[in-house]
Amino acid sequence: MRQVLIIVAVAVTAVTGVVLLFTHVQVRTESDVLARDLEQRTRILAESLQESVEPAYIVQSQSALQRIVERFANRQPLVGVAVVDRAGTVVAASEHVSEAGVVGVVPTVSALQGESGGSFLRTAEATMYVYAVPLTDETGEVTAAMVVVQDASYIDERAYSTWWNNIARLLAYVLLFGAAVALLVRWVVLRPLMALAATVKSARTGRGGLKALEPLKQNLFFMPLAREISEMTKSLGQARHAASEEARLRLQKIDTPWTAERLKEFIRTYLKGRPIYVVSNREPYAHTRRGNEILWSVPASGMVTALEPVMAAAGGMWIAHGGGDADREVTDESGKVAVPPDDPKYTLKRIWLEPEEIKGHYDGFSNEALWPLCHTAHTRPIFRNEDWAMYKRVNGKFAEQILSELKDVQRPIILIQDYHFALLPQMLKDARPDAQIGIFWHIPWPSPEAFSICPWRKELLEGMLGADIVGFHTQQYCNNFLDTVGKEIESLIDFEQFAVTRDDHVSYIKPFPISIAFTNGAERDEADKPDKKVLSVLGIKTERFGLGVDRMDYTKGILERFKAIEFLLEKHTKYREKFTFLQIAPPSREGVEKYREYGAAVKQEADRINKRFGKNGWRPIVLETRHYTHSELEPLYRLADVCVVTSLHDGMNLVAKEFVAARDDESGVLVLSQFTGAARTLKGALLVNPYSAEETAEAVHKALSMSPTEQYRRMRAMRNTIKDYNVYRWSAELIKAVASIA
Ligand code: G6P
Repeated sequence: MRQVLIIVAVAVTAVTGVVLLFTHVQVRTESDVLARDLEQRTRILAESLQESVEPAYIVQSQSALQRIVERFANRQPLVGVAVVDRAGTVVAASEHVSEAGVVGVVPTVSALQGESGGSFLRTAEATMYVYAVPLTDETGEVTAAMVVVQDASYIDERAYSTWWNNIARLLAYVLLFGAAVALLVRWVVLRPLMALAATVKSARTGRGGLKALEPLKQNLFFMPLAREISEMTKSLGQARHAASEEARLRLQKIDTPWTAERLKEFIRTYLKGRPIYVVSNREPYAHTRRGNEILWSVPASGMVTALEPVMAAAGGMWIAHGGGDADREVTDESGKVAVPPDDPKYTLKRIWLEPEEIKGHYDGFSNEALWPLCHTAHTRPIFRNEDWAMYKRVNGKFAEQILSELKDVQRPIILIQDYHFALLPQMLKDARPDAQIGIFWHIPWPSPEAFSICPWRKELLEGMLGADIVGFHTQQYCNNFLDTVGKEIESLIDFEQFAVTRDDHVSYIKPFPISIAFTNGAERDEADKPDKKVLSVLGIKTERFGLGVDRMDYTKGILERFKAIEFLLEKHTKYREKFTFLQIAPPSREGVEKYREYGAAVKQEADRINKRFGKNGWRPIVLETRHYTHSELEPLYRLADVCVVTSLHDGMNLVAKEFVAARDDESGVLVLSQFTGAARTLKGALLVNPYSAEETAEAVHKALSMSPTEQYRRMRAMRNTIKDYNVYRWSAELIKAVASIA
């Protein structure tokens, strides 16, 4: 609609401009013709009058003179005639001629000097044309001037009426023309274009046919394009079929790379149409209102980054808290909406939570108790009874909604994500013993001693053991979990199988190191290197630059990283004004005080270091606190000399993997905290203890001085690791483990 309005507005502006220009020219031409005509008539009249007035003036017959001039009163448009002597006195004048109108005016003055002539005079009331001729005596000497005054107002009136007529006509044109253009654009251009877009989209997604193209094949304008698209769609269909066939054949061989196609094929053959239900607190798409528009975005979350490509490949339903301010506006009455919004592939069912539920469940128990409890980052967990009550209530609310979705589904497969839903597996298993349930814990699991400070540790463990599969990122977290279960609750533990049996139910504890959707077939060519402009707009002008990308979270070790940058600049002064560190840290969990405090501390620390070393417009640290989309991050990953991940403790850390995946030039260095899950497999990284600023600084220095050959060797090894175990393989193994439980 907006485009149609723009086209109509442009067309109307153009038509208006043309009409106004033509009216202006028309008015000027008409006014000139009328003025010339009036001048001519007045001159002829004045010359003929001159013959009768001159004798009367010579014989000094005042009454004869007055009679003559009176004869010309009230003869439209003639206002009248007057005679003015050399002294400037009006000797005779018709009724409507005023002294001011004839004495001292240019034509009269010229006539008294022997020159005939006229000019237009504008007064507040009217426009006059004044023409004067000299009166001479027998000797030929000028004795007076005869002045003829004509009313010229009708020339202006004619101009006004031409303007008004044309403007009225213009308005009528604009209305008719605007409506005609709007209709034409809508029916002749936009509708066929929409049909073309729909066909291109169905070609891209492999859904829908070529029906929309049929009418366009007869359309004069779009015929060639419609034919091309029709051919392209057929070729794409064939390519897709070939890819799926190839994926089917590849299923037999586990060591070939996993792709979205292969996962889809795996799910089709392995699950035979059984749907997958994913449950998480954070939704994969949030809708927000900006003015009249509803926008959607993908939240900054490692869990979403990992699960979204899986759901896009597998389909099914994702159940999550609807947290966007416009979420309700786009869902149906049961809270469902098809996503991704621009190319729907699965259903998102949103669960609505009250503010006190969010406060107690999300801010409180999940993020102030469980998060610091599981991360060894020296931030003390806060256990509040009321948060625990809300945690139980929200787990119950989700259970109720999920069970109602599963009413008619036989042996559903449910994949629960993360520490927000430790109680959910048992709630679901009690109601639906036939369901196959997996819970994946995206954060670390601490030692039994660390976990033992939680007042509700037994309930949490019992809740989790309702699942058939309990998954963690690393074997270490599995070991910690099994030790915790052994310490806290009564159960039978099989250390060989890594299984826990309670009340005849067996839960298997398994590592599934999560990854990203990295398949990387086609390598980009050199010319495809991102434009360095993305850096200069951020104020980064130095040759070398390092990158950090994290949610603003105290477990990410951003303050420790800044300390390391400070140490680097202190010890290796050659980097001053030559190296910049870009930290991207979008806000996270701002309802929690610790996070707000941390955000402020990070900003303060960046300012302090910038004040200390900043010089000639160079700032060593550029801190960006807005959310960057994946496509905005990609060029930064590809341009960075070094990516620095210094989490104090991190389940996996997918930023490290995304950096590696982006480096198809096989250069750049990853500095990685030894306390991340990713450090177990990314052997090409420079591992550091983030608590030591000196060690991290030295690693950054080593990265910046590393030879291209060594960069290549390390990067290539890491890329092969991620290619080999990407998120498609992660989910295939998780789904296989859950669905193969007897
Ligand atoms: C970390 C956790 C994820 C979580 C994400 C976002 O990456 O490992 O499980 O989804 O943080 O947290 P949020 O509180 O914003 O959902």
